[in-house]
Amino acid sequence: MNNFAFQYNKPVYFTRNGTAYCGDARQLLKNLPDESINLVITSPPFALQRQKEYGNKEQHEYIDWLTEFTVLVHQKLRHDGSFVLDLGGAYQKGVPVRSLYNFRVAIRFCDEVGFHLAEDFYWHNPSKLPSPIEWVNKRKIRAKDSVNTIWWFSKTEHPKADITKVLTPYSERMKKLLSAPDKFYKPKLRPSGHDIAASFGKDNGGSIPSNLLQIPNSESNGRYMDGCKALNLKQHPARFPAKLPEFFIKFLTEPNDLVVDIFAGSNTTGYVAETEGRQWVAFEERIDYLAASAFRFLSKDSNTAQMKDIHTRISQGDSVNLSQCQAGRHFSDKSLEITKQTEESLLI
Ligand SMILES: C[S@@+](CC[C@H](N)C(=O)[O-])C[C@H]1O[C@@H](n2cnc3c(N)ncnc32)[C@H](O)[C@@H]1O
Repeated sequence: MNNFAFQYNKPVYFTRNGTAYCGDARQLLKNLPDESINLVITSPPFALQRQKEYGNKEQHEYIDWLTEFTVLVHQKLRHDGSFVLDLGGAYQKGVPVRSLYNFRVAIRFCDEVGFHLAEDFYWHNPSKLPSPIEWVNKRKIRAKDSVNTIWWFSKTEHPKADITKVLTPYSERMKKLLSAPDKFYKPKLRPSGHDIAASFGKDNGGSIPSNLLQIPNSESNGRYMDGCKALNLKQHPARFPAKLPEFFIKFLTEPNDLVVDIFAGSNTTGYVAETEGRQWVAFEERIDYLAASAFRFLSKDSNTAQMKDIHTRISQGDSVNLSQCQAGRHFSDKSLEITKQTEESLLI
């Protein structure tokens, strides 16, 4: 098998609902049919992680690079599809002044690629450590940066979306009101002009969430962490918490829809999509990240030897069928069936 077949056609592993591929997402995306994806949700390597400096030239280089992927994402999304992009903020190099790169990304994608900004979300990660050290800890002239911008782009003005799928639990005050609406609330026209009708007292199963998502990034257990610890492997350094893709997958897709992560890393997105009964495809250029990400899909009764076996096979270039090893199944020798596909791609 030549390198091209390994890199671009043969899956690294596949599960009941999804497939992970190793390679450059720009090449891999081309293999998907146009207008086939319901949701692309991803977190690219941030400008900071690419060890770029933050002068204007470098910012533009980064935006040019990201735009190459985005043009393809636009082509592969369904007309009612969405593209959700998590971008961390950054400072310009050497000065306590913010880079505008994440805002420039949003403007470029709308002005030049043809996306709409359906809504801007903000992910507040309360467990983020103070940074940058120079401005926050040493000189104490800036606040701790703990919010990422999450741009929700859509191909048309009316992407598929249902906010009732991600309602948040009612507050204690609201629960009290719902228990006896007549006692606590009288319908009236507010000074703002809002007509708060009697339906305000109706139990809808939860509150409409805001565009500020408060999710700590502090996962310390789960199959992925267990597997990495057992095999003494370094965990992916820039994972997002499962609750983040979970929110957008439930909000913007329905069961069996196709969810794609083009910078999959430890494949948090694929795992959540699998759990939520969506189809998924993951692209990641590093085989070591993908090999460890397979642990996410293994049932609780898989042991260290079995995890090691899967990790080794993936690292050696085999294409591993994980569907027999997932929760609800028991391991057997047959479970580590290696596909012999060379020409036939599993890519839909
Ligand atoms: C911020 S991480 C994503 C982490 C992921 N959200 C998770 O929860 O594990 C970005 C990933 O993009 C990968 N990457 C960078 N350039 C790529 C490319 N051209 N094609 C595919 N993956 C790429 C990096 O190796 C890295 O793992």
